[in-house]
Amino acid sequence: MKIAIVGATGLVGRNIIKQCEQLLPKEIEYHLFASSKSAGKSLKINDQDVVVQELNSKNIKEYDIALFSAGGDRSKEFSEYFISQGSYVIDNSSAFRMQDEVPLVVYGINEDQITTTTKLIANPNCTTMGLVMALKPLHDKFNLNSITPVAYQAVSGSGTEAVNSLKKEELLDKESLLENKDTFYSRPIARNVIPLAGNLTENEYSDEEMKIVYESRKILDIPGLLVEPSNARVGVVTGHGVFCSAVFEEDVNIEEAISVLNNFEGVQYWSDTLATPLDAEDNLNVLVSRLRIGLSNTRILNFWCVSDNLLKGAALNAVQIASYLVKK
Ligand SMILES: NC(=O)c1ccc[n+]([C@@H]2O[C@H](COP(=O)([O-])OP(=O)(O)OC[C@H]3O[C@@H](n4cnc5c(N)ncnc54)[C@H](OP(=O)(O)O)[C@@H]3O)[C@@H](O)[C@H]2O)c1
Repeated sequence: MKIAIVGATGLVGRNIIKQCEQLLPKEIEYHLFASSKSAGKSLKINDQDVVVQELNSKNIKEYDIALFSAGGDRSKEFSEYFISQGSYVIDNSSAFRMQDEVPLVVYGINEDQITTTTKLIANPNCTTMGLVMALKPLHDKFNLNSITPVAYQAVSGSGTEAVNSLKKEELLDKESLLENKDTFYSRPIARNVIPLAGNLTENEYSDEEMKIVYESRKILDIPGLLVEPSNARVGVVTGHGVFCSAVFEEDVNIEEAISVLNNFEGVQYWSDTLATPLDAEDNLNVLVSRLRIGLSNTRILNFWCVSDNLLKGAALNAVQIASYLVKK
């Protein structure tokens, strides 16, 4: 079996390599792709050096699965080449997520959306992914009507350049930070919270906020789910946190809610320790804490969830899907 990793040198790509080592059979042959600047470098997979190739149409051969994390433009331009050579494509970008015929898969929730004719599978947005993992067992128990998520998105969600910017900004004092023009985001991110993640769209909500709206409806299969999102960017390297107020059709019960969360593979409820991004980093689980019944209504649950945006939010989910395809 042959697997291609497109964007192998990036934050997500390097985590995909680690997850492939953990979750997939050792005998798989890997082919790595990135931009021309990385061509010729080598990366280790299962203790073997694999040379990175430039992503261009001439280099694309037959593979069983291609895992894409090289940005939406590369997904749009090159996924078809891989598919036409017989490969499944699992795409981490937002390029195809909202196309009706493309399954938007969170492994553990809706991998049954992959059918015999599926060739392209979209991996959801990193903030949505952690949130829906917490919502799914609660929805199955109490029937979800609406959510008001407030997300605190980490810097690694924006890629290598953003993390490098944070590291440089962390060396500056307050005055220099506020004057500094050489920043990845529109405002300083070190020791800071920017009340906007992503780019504003026509309706004044950001694209990151609208991804939560559309993607949570599609993944949970609740077309009428009401979503009121607000996303901030925080000066944290890894681990997206979300405070969510969720309204259900039925009255909720804390013990039952904790029980269904803990019984859902990939989710842990932390009752004694507050789960933070530092706890989530390198953790394969989505961590939930601070579960409370609504003050105004007994059909409301308020909670905090946090997960590693590079793992369940990207690489882990993509490789879990690949592992599912390998076993199919
Ligand atoms: N970071 C997250 O938490 C997260 C979560 C979910 C989804 N995603 C998505 O995953 C993708 C990658 O994110 P990332 O955080 O890994 O970004 P990143 O660290 O900036 O890495 C980008 C990768 O894309 C490659 N690339 C860039 N331009 C290319 C080109 N013209 N041809 C071929 N390869 C090219 C880069 O190769 P070089 O090293 O050679 O430049 C690198 O391997 C994005 O679509 C992002 O939206 C990210």
